Amino acid sequence: MSQPKEAWGSKLGVIMAVAGSAVGLGNFLRFPGLVADKETGGGAFLIAYFISLLVVGLPICWAEWTLGRFGGSQGFNSSPGIFHSILRKPWGKYLGLLGFIVPVGVYFYYVVIESWCLGYAWHSFSGNLDLKGAPAFGDFFSTFTGQASDGAVFSLGSPFWFFAGVFVLNFIIIYRGLSKGIEFICNWGMPLLIIIALVLLARVMTLGTPDPTKPELSIWNGLGYMWNPTDIAKGLSNPGVWLKAASQIFFTLSVGFGVIITYASYLKPKDDVALSGLTATAANEFCEVALGGLITVPAAFAFLGASAVAGGTFALGFNVLPQVFAGMPGGHIFGGLFFTLLFIAAITSSLSMLQPGIAFLEEGLGLDRRRSVALLGLITAAGCLLVVWFSRDLKALSTVDFWIGDIGIFLQGTLLIYVFNLGLGTERGWQQLHHGADIQVPRIFRHVLRWVSPVFLTVIFSMFVLRNVAGWNLSFADAAFTPTEQILDLVGSETHPASHVARLTALFLLVFVVFSSLLIHLAGRRWSRQSR
Ligand code: PHE
Repeated sequence: MSQPKEAWGSKLGVIMAVAGSAVGLGNFLRFPGLVADKETGGGAFLIAYFISLLVVGLPICWAEWTLGRFGGSQGFNSSPGIFHSILRKPWGKYLGLLGFIVPVGVYFYYVVIESWCLGYAWHSFSGNLDLKGAPAFGDFFSTFTGQASDGAVFSLGSPFWFFAGVFVLNFIIIYRGLSKGIEFICNWGMPLLIIIALVLLARVMTLGTPDPTKPELSIWNGLGYMWNPTDIAKGLSNPGVWLKAASQIFFTLSVGFGVIITYASYLKPKDDVALSGLTATAANEFCEVALGGLITVPAAFAFLGASAVAGGTFALGFNVLPQVFAGMPGGHIFGGLFFTLLFIAAITSSLSMLQPGIAFLEEGLGLDRRRSVALLGLITAAGCLLVVWFSRDLKALSTVDFWIGDIGIFLQGTLLIYVFNLGLGTERGWQQLHHGADIQVPRIFRHVLRWVSPVFLTVIFSMFVLRNVAGWNLSFADAAFTPTEQILDLVGSETHPASHVARLTALFLLVFVVFSSLLIHLAGRRWSRQSR
């Protein structure tokens, strides 16, 4: 090995790091946006969400921690390496491909949104986000993110520098290493994040009825809008609702990305994984449901009403909330705090997307830290520049989000559970999970891991494919066959011309996949030379 083995500084450190990875934009923007969605949100979504948490989130999280620590004991830290050591077949390492490309691919756009958060925090604190009047916020957002034309961000000055600064900052922290970089940032960032969130929550809960002439627009009605169950039967019979709920569970828990498997590989063979996995999951759910779910939507509702709330994830965070803050005394401070919160949540997540890549380049190609950081820097710079350049309507961003952030995660999560059951073996995996464990996991989860999780995921994914590709209508809610927009962007239809940017982005991702497979091939040759 080219350098000493990395390790976590403390037992709490790894939990903080996994929680830091889990708690992110998904908790404070994506989740409220999904719940507030008119079509697939509301009470039905929440039921599907909590079932997915129990049936796939928590079990696969345990499986991933277990596989990771096991792989670490065999001397591997990346998904290709860990799958290679478990499966012991020439093709085994290639199954780890997604564990390399998914986190890196999500980083391509996640770090861009992260830089918006920092930019918004800066502009809020300095008081010049307040452009007076509703449409201005929309203008600010589309200008800041360069939505008017491709390449706009490069001529704007500050948005580009925020992006470049945040990008470099991530790599500086990663370069410092696991314990001095990631663990250090998460140990400080997570408590700070919770404090800021509690301050904001207290502010929102005491807003009452901001405009006395409109008594129906109150915080309490905002809570009701978000949490009262409506039309559950119709919602639960729509596979789209289940797909969204299960994807959100993966996304928010950072499960099925190849992140937890890498983080857990740095544990010692006798360190607990059962309680640690549960603790990190519980911390994430607290931040998602109790903080993310109670701050954004009720505040937006109380100030602007239901129509403002249902505008989608980005609109909620970057258009609607600035208006809300502008309407309250000391708003630029609260606005600044909110975007600082988002930035901290985001950076502890984006760091976790880089570590799997670093681990793979080091152990697969034998690169030292400096070279692996440089190579990953180049790869991610290419992806990020694509996203930043093709900013018109955020087309490149949403294309990468769909193929990597929705489909890729889903596939990687499914693969992981099969490797756990068939590669490691359910019984052996279950014993491994309890090796050194601080709790006994209820035995029912053994059956869930073995049967329910894989079936659940396979069924949801097949329904999605049938619906989008074969045009099979599964939703009782809408009669017409409407493939997902991203698929239409690639193939085009009479009413929906294909998008060149979406095609170019997909081509870029394909090249990335081929390039990464080649790296895995090289890694395999190196491992067999070393008889690993
Ligand atoms: N879990 C993070 C969130 O909720 C997103 C994330 C994805 C983090 C992938 C790490 C890896 O925002």
